[in-house]
Amino acid sequence: MSTPLRIGIAGLGTVGIGVVKILRQKSALLEARTGRKLELTAISARSKSKDRGVPLSGYAWEDDPVALARRGDVDVFVELMGGEDGPAKAATEAALDTGKDVVTANKAMLAVNGQALAARAEAAARVVRFEAAVAGGIPVVKALTEGLAGNDITRVLGVMNGSCNYILTRMEDAGLTYQEVFDEANALGYLEADPELDVGGIDAGHKLALLASIAFGTQVNFAGVELEGIGAVSIDDIRRAGDMGYRIKLLGVAQMTGRGLEQRMTPCLVPKSSPMGQLTGGTNMVVLEGDQVEQVVLRGPGAGEGPTASAVLSDIIDIARGTRLTTYGQPAHTLVPATPARSATPAPYYLRMALEDKPGALAKIATVLGEAGISIDRMRQYTHEGPHAPVLIVTHKTTRSALDEALAAMGGTGVMAGEPVALRIENL
Ligand code: HSE
Repeated sequence: MSTPLRIGIAGLGTVGIGVVKILRQKSALLEARTGRKLELTAISARSKSKDRGVPLSGYAWEDDPVALARRGDVDVFVELMGGEDGPAKAATEAALDTGKDVVTANKAMLAVNGQALAARAEAAARVVRFEAAVAGGIPVVKALTEGLAGNDITRVLGVMNGSCNYILTRMEDAGLTYQEVFDEANALGYLEADPELDVGGIDAGHKLALLASIAFGTQVNFAGVELEGIGAVSIDDIRRAGDMGYRIKLLGVAQMTGRGLEQRMTPCLVPKSSPMGQLTGGTNMVVLEGDQVEQVVLRGPGAGEGPTASAVLSDIIDIARGTRLTTYGQPAHTLVPATPARSATPAPYYLRMALEDKPGALAKIATVLGEAGISIDRMRQYTHEGPHAPVLIVTHKTTRSALDEALAAMGGTGVMAGEPVALRIENL
């Protein structure tokens, strides 16, 4: 009979309690699948007295997560506290230094400190696994690390923040402004305690940086992610993009280019008919492209108790089975630093502007685009009452630098009211 795998959990929020419930309710199934008992021995959280709806008195309690991580009766330290450093990082380091494997859902910690933690784990012959950190219940870390390990990964795309996708979907469905839906979502508790983590694209950017590291064998580099949140997406753009056959998504894209690693988490237009274009509400989607498989589409719940706990369990089960995987798919010392390449890949762009409705105005804009080497694919002018005409232009593929040159020159034409909106169109 194999020895039990002894588990310590730090952090008893939604996910932590979800893990406790699965360990309690599915012990026979988990034992059948791993050949060992999975035994929760110790727990830690901020408040011992809080009623969490699950009996917890049978587990040893530690106020200090570092003390929990160091306990002799813990084999796997499950870090579900969150936070880029502070107690989460201190406890993770303590666990590794005292011979524990670590399972975490902490994308911020791994996106910022993951290279050092992965190296520390490998030096101690331990593992740090993080399936729950990216896209909740979607097993995308495993898909990249294991299922697609025989591919050269060419591109990773993802809608990986359910709150942002919910906001954009609701704006479109109800015809509400960003601020109206933001306030609604915040009141319903759909956003992180610091909502900027969601709407600023930071949470999704962390996730993208983690996937890019596995996909391209590079040191995780969150600072290299080109980041733009959804705060400036207007209902006008959602409608106009819709008229042109697109939906706006907070889309993550990572790909290796001749100029370096491109990592973007920005509002983009995707074809309405594409899988990403069809994704509504809080659901997540990750598209993995590899030279052998072409395209694999994964869709599922990106947050919530059950889905995220399911992902944590998958890592615990690996450890119980003796499946020992490196943090980012290869030994940490073999991951190479990657030069960040900002918007290096050419793409079509959606431009929306308000032009004076007088002879030659459109010609001036077309000339500026032509002089920057940008070709117009489609154009539409909308009816209007005031002196300014709303004009939409979809360009053929161009570089961001050529587009920036054209946008700067447009200001000098004297025919434009306000600033133009420019959004990238990502073909899928
Ligand atoms: N707040 C995230 C989301 C879940 O809305 O997808 C945790 O990463």
